[in-house]
Amino acid sequence: MNIGFIGGGTMAEAILGGMLNAGVADAGDVIIGEPVAPRRDYLAERYGVSVSPVNGPVVGGSDLVALAVKPQDLPKVYADIGGLFTDEKSLLSIVAGARMKSLADGMQHSGIIRVMPNTPAQIGAGMTMWTCAPSVSQAHREAAAAILSTIGDAIYVDDEQYLDMATALSASGPAYVFLIVEALIDAGVYVGLPRDTARRLALQTVKGSVELVSQTGQHPAALKDMVTSPGGTTAEGLQALERAGVPAAIVDAVNAAYLKSIRLGRD
Ligand SMILES: NC(=O)c1ccc[n+]([C@@H]2O[C@H](COP(=O)([O-])OP(=O)(O)OC[C@H]3O[C@@H](n4cnc5c(N)ncnc54)[C@H](OP(=O)(O)O)[C@@H]3O)[C@@H](O)[C@H]2O)c1
Repeated sequence: MNIGFIGGGTMAEAILGGMLNAGVADAGDVIIGEPVAPRRDYLAERYGVSVSPVNGPVVGGSDLVALAVKPQDLPKVYADIGGLFTDEKSLLSIVAGARMKSLADGMQHSGIIRVMPNTPAQIGAGMTMWTCAPSVSQAHREAAAAILSTIGDAIYVDDEQYLDMATALSASGPAYVFLIVEALIDAGVYVGLPRDTARRLALQTVKGSVELVSQTGQHPAALKDMVTSPGGTTAEGLQALERAGVPAAIVDAVNAAYLKSIRLGRD
């Protein structure tokens, strides 16, 4: 199967690297449309794929076309390649906020696969939610599932509305976690640790805690209770987090991102 990319940026490279490393596609079957010449040269040299400064040949030469441009570039892309998709082709869009209906209208094509990945995809540790239109063939559904499995975990849903929720939780989520990790490192420095030691302690603590929840299957609250001895240091720290409204602020953050995602999809 020939696979094309419209846009050869960060997320396109994450998906490209994942699928080539896993052997899901051969470099010879991939073509990338990318306007920036140094970026084209880099992708061709590093991955051995074909590149093009214009998008027409990418659509013409591909069975499955991944759309990986920023949302603000969509009108230009629609004007450029809308109408070039023949029935047997599918479009796999990772563009944040772009709904199936507007993608189908813009491309004048119904075979749309909509995907919401996140940035840990760059190291094969991504979390993706995806859905697809009824007209997408079984072969293209299977190809999409195989490609997405190479960049981390992936959940298929029938109902597109879940993608706004995933945008708020898993696609924006790495930023929330980075903020917490940064604060933990700064806190370590505040109480007197050297910065590199604080960084090591914070990173392994977050990583180990996530693994513990995942591997034991226990409720996070049960694991939290286990480290909280009566009148101890952890109870004191947790009390400060509750006083500052941190759990409610996290719910507010995800809800604000969810509502924004819905608004963006309406524009
Ligand atoms: N980063 C995330 O966590 C994440 C998660 C989920 C979804 N997404 C979505 O993934 C999409 C891509 O994000 P990204 O971070 O990979 O962006 P990016 O690094 O900016 O990549 C987009 C690439 O597309 C190129 N481009 C612009 N106009 C084009 C056109 N008309 N034809 C072909 N290529 C064109 C850009 O070139 P220029 O540099 O010249 O503009 C750039 O190289 C976005 O819609 C984003 O919302 C991102």
